[in-house]
Order: sequence, then structure tokens, then C-alpha cells
Amino acid sequence: MSKLAHAQWSSKMTFVLAAAGSAVGLGNIWKFPYMVGESGGAAFVLVYLVCIGLIGLPILIAEWLIGRRGQENPINAMADLAKRGGHFPAWVAVGISGVLGGFLILSFYSVIGGWSLYYTLGSVTGNFSGKDADGIGAVFTGMLGSPGLLLLWHTAFMVLVIGIVARGVTNGLEGAVRTLMPALVILMLVLVGYGITTGHFGEALAFMFSPDWGAVNGEVVLAAMGQAFFTLSLGMGIMMAYGSYLGEDVNLLSTARTVILLDTVIAVLAGLAIFPIVFANGLDLDSGPGLIFVTLPLAFGNMAGGTILGLMFFLLLTFAALTSAISLLEPAVEFMEERTSLSRVAATATCGIGVWLLGILALLSFNLLGDFLILGFNIFDLLDNLTSKILLPLTGLGAVVFAAWCLDRQGVAQELRLSGGAESLWVVVARYIAPLGVIAVFVNSLVG
Ligand code: PHE
Repeated sequence: MSKLAHAQWSSKMTFVLAAAGSAVGLGNIWKFPYMVGESGGAAFVLVYLVCIGLIGLPILIAEWLIGRRGQENPINAMADLAKRGGHFPAWVAVGISGVLGGFLILSFYSVIGGWSLYYTLGSVTGNFSGKDADGIGAVFTGMLGSPGLLLLWHTAFMVLVIGIVARGVTNGLEGAVRTLMPALVILMLVLVGYGITTGHFGEALAFMFSPDWGAVNGEVVLAAMGQAFFTLSLGMGIMMAYGSYLGEDVNLLSTARTVILLDTVIAVLAGLAIFPIVFANGLDLDSGPGLIFVTLPLAFGNMAGGTILGLMFFLLLTFAALTSAISLLEPAVEFMEERTSLSRVAATATCGIGVWLLGILALLSFNLLGDFLILGFNIFDLLDNLTSKILLPLTGLGAVVFAAWCLDRQGVAQELRLSGGAESLWVVVARYIAPLGVIAVFVNSLVG
């Protein structure tokens, strides 16, 4: 594919919005709170924040650098850049595992996107109003126990994703993200406000920010690092693919700061909205993937205007999930479109159907295949753990090592508009701190 024919973002703003749209999603609102709950609270939060700053930021920039240099799908970009620089052809593995990771993640991500759609509908039909914690819990377990229901909503979610990706990623994304992201932030603030009225906000604050360092072990640190990768959409070729549509005029460093700040604020707000409800109702901190689906409907059922707020919340959550899901499919589609003779629509349908099929196995883990374990995990947990804790960190490690050691240092400094001490700091972080950080977390989790 010729370089000239490769599309570019219509403006800098579109790029920022697309990157934020990819980063902010179920990872922030669904996954972050339940991982905090499972992993003992504040210690996890603080390790996570350190991982975001010292590992997430440099890797995000590394992926954009590689994508922008390559101007192609992640696999071709890595292959070409390695060849041009006279490096090992094996670097292409970074591109391949990225594309594969996106594919695997989307399969279980779409199942949760389906839950969000189902809850959107449930808010309209009054499925949650007047129910107590047990009633709300029963709605959730009822959904999990029904393969047909899960399949229906997983399918609906994938149809939406395929429909949007087939038309090309930039069309329509910009306007939607621009209005809906602020709406999401405002709604989260309203929910935090509700949390304050429960009288248990202080407990939630302490749980999230007052660490019990005794709770930290290798497993918690690995989970926190995995979450940092997941929430920033790193290690999956996505940010590389988005970088490949990027012109020279975008300041990568300040853009990365904006995206990371927004992503982190939304995750923390989600925690501050959810934990007061957990404490107020004596719910289980350790409820896992069901946490937001058994806490927030309780709040909506008990507050003035709760029906409409609940509807808005689940709509926005679905939307945030969609903008992330689009980005998960994009690298595989971009690759197929540029490498094969398939049209964009055919490439999207092929990848989308593959993801949909794998997603069916994931959703059956909640019912029919609940006892089918591989390495001690059901299929859903296996896909989640394999990607977040292994594939993403390894791919991200490859990307940052390549960007920091194999791309020419001067060119990168110019691209990042860094000089003097700031440039040296970048080199130290990207060459040593981030890669060694990832390796240390791996080793640490192996030894316990
Ligand atoms: N970052 C997204 C989220 O937090 C999920 C995602 C992961 C999207 C990986 C793309 C790639 O929900």
C-alpha cells in the first residue's frame, strides 16, 4: 500500500478524541473499581498510578512514535522500521502480538458491552426500580445464567462495532466523543455526589487512598500493571495504528498527558461513585466483574430522577465501550485491508465474525461452560488474564525498547520537541525505567 494513500486524521483534535475514546471505556468504569475491590484497595490504586506514570506514559508515546514513523498497520510498520534501521526482522512479533491481543480482548469486552446494553434497556423498562440489594443481585445472576440473553446482547454489541468500523474509524467519531465524554464526566460527578449522601463516602475514600502496604504482593503489582496497560489501550497495536494516521504537527507528549489525565480521572471517579454504595449496603467488595452492575442500579433505584440518570449512565457506558471496541478491531482490520485484497467492509466482517465466535465461548463461561477450566481459569478469565497480564505488557515492552533503542535518538528528540535535561530524562525513562519496570513486575510476580 502506498504511503500517500494512507488516510490521515482530519485534525489534531480528532486524534486526541479518538485516542481518549479508545482509552476511556469499560476498563475505567467496570474493570478498575472491581479490581480495586478485589485487590485490597488503596495499595493497588497507588501501584497502579505509579505504573501509569512510569510505564504507561512512555509506552504510549513509544507506540505513537512507531506508528507515525511507519504510517502503516502495526505489523507492517514494525517490519519496515526494523528493516530500514537494519534491526532484527523478529521485531515484527511486536506488531503481530498487538493485533492478536486486540482480537482476543474484544471477544470478552463485547460480552460486557452486551451487559451494558441490556442494563440500558433495563433502566427504561424499570427493571431495577424499587429493588433492594438482593433484587438487583438477582437481576444480575439471572442474566449470567441465561446463555441466550448473553448471546443476544453480545451479538447486538458486535453488530454495532462491525457497522461502525466498516465505515471507517474517523467518520462520526469526533462529534460523538466530543459531546459524550464531558457528559460522562458530569454524570460520574453526580454519582459521586450521591455517594457523599450515603454517609459512607469517608470509608470509600480511606479504602481507595489510605494504603495497607501489607496487602501488596507480586500478584497485586502484576494486576495493577496489567490494568495500566488495559486502560490506556497499550500493547495492542491500537495506539500504533492510530499513530499511523498521524501528521507531523501533533505534540505527542502533551497529547499523551491529556489522554492519561482524562483516563485516570474517570477511573478514580468511578471508584468514588461505587465504593460508598458498596459500604452503605454492606455489599461484597470482592464481587468481581459484577460490581458496577450490582451497585449502581441500587443507587439509581433510590435517588430522585434515578430512572433517567440510570438510563443516561448505561447509555454513556455503552458508548464508551463502543469507542474502545472500535479501536480493538481497527488494527486487525487495517492489517487485513492493507495485506489482502479484501475490501474494508469484507475485512471488518471477517475479523468481526471471528471475534464474535470467540466471544460466545467467553459468555458461556458464566453458565454452561462454568466448570470448563484451562490452567485453572474459565475461558472468560483466561482471555482476560492472558491479555492484560502477559500479552499486553510483553508487547508494550517490545514497543518501548524498540522506540528507545532502535529509532534514532535525535529524530525522536525532535519529534517529541525535547532537548537538554528533558530529553535525557525521556531517554532514561524509555530506555531503562519503563522496560526494567515491566520486567521487574514479571519477575516479582513469578517469585510470589
Ligand atoms: N482501554 C479500554 C478501556 O479501558 C479498553 C481497551 C483495551 C481498548 C485495549 C483498546 C485496547 O476500556
